[in-house]
Amino acid sequence: MYQTLLTEIEKGTLIITVNRPDKMNALNKDVIADLSNALDEAYTNADVKSIIITGAGEKAFVAGADISEFQTLDAAGGAHLAKLGQDKVFSKIENCPKPVVAAVNGFSLGGGCELAMACHFRIASANAKFGQPEVNLGLIPGYGGTQRLTQLVGKGKAMELAMTADMVGAEDAKSLGLVNYVVTLEELLPKAKEILQKIHTKAPLAVAKVIACVNDAAKCDPLGFDNEITRFGECFSTEDMQEGVNSFLEKRKAAFKGK
Ligand code: COA
Repeated sequence: MYQTLLTEIEKGTLIITVNRPDKMNALNKDVIADLSNALDEAYTNADVKSIIITGAGEKAFVAGADISEFQTLDAAGGAHLAKLGQDKVFSKIENCPKPVVAAVNGFSLGGGCELAMACHFRIASANAKFGQPEVNLGLIPGYGGTQRLTQLVGKGKAMELAMTADMVGAEDAKSLGLVNYVVTLEELLPKAKEILQKIHTKAPLAVAKVIACVNDAAKCDPLGFDNEITRFGECFSTEDMQEGVNSFLEKRKAAFKGK
């Protein structure tokens, strides 16, 4: 269905695999277009309750934007490339009302690190490596990396990583707060699926509001507290809130409908 992605839906989780293993799954124009379309599908398809993004092969998650597309770009072309990617893919992932997890299975560099960071949280295999090496190319991150890396690891470490281009391994990434869990390569997708299956048992509209509120906080949105109050109130007009409260009081398991 997609030229550069493999997709499958398993128990309500859409697994998107960036599939250019011979090029370390680098993000060229085709991958960005395919990811955009796959995310549109994820937003609208009611069978999709959550999303995993991963890379094909055992070496790379995504080793960055495709450097071979950079040579002919001027300032306007570079800005256009970054804006297109942010609008069509990275912001769409961050703002997705369904949970999106990155299963990072190897090199996660440049645009690959940015892709992982746009996801709601990350799980890494032990061989994963993270970095923002753009300064090696006379560039800076353009898919939100300066912003999201700072949100996740703090200003000092973000400055160091983006200025030195150093890579950090999976365990260090975990210590920094960049990833939530480090597991073996074999356990990577099962771990991501297991967490998402747990989230599938919760109230979907409430889950979507958690995503929106935490995103507000990460962006230091001055309306974050007000938005939380509004969204908390909105929960009271959902069927799922009635079901959740009733099921607790009746000592039974809630059956949420996403309404
Ligand atoms: N863009 C385009 N092609 C890339 C790429 C990228 N970001 N990253 C890797 N590739 C390609 C290589 O050019 C090579 O292609 P070839 O076989 O046609 O020559 C292939 O993927 C394999 O990569 P190679 O460098 O031979 O593998 P390696 O194991 O020696 O090194 C990396 C792996 C990830 C360390 C190395 O490929 C790398 O540094 N990539 C660029 C990372 C980067 O700067 N990303 C930020 C971009 S803004």
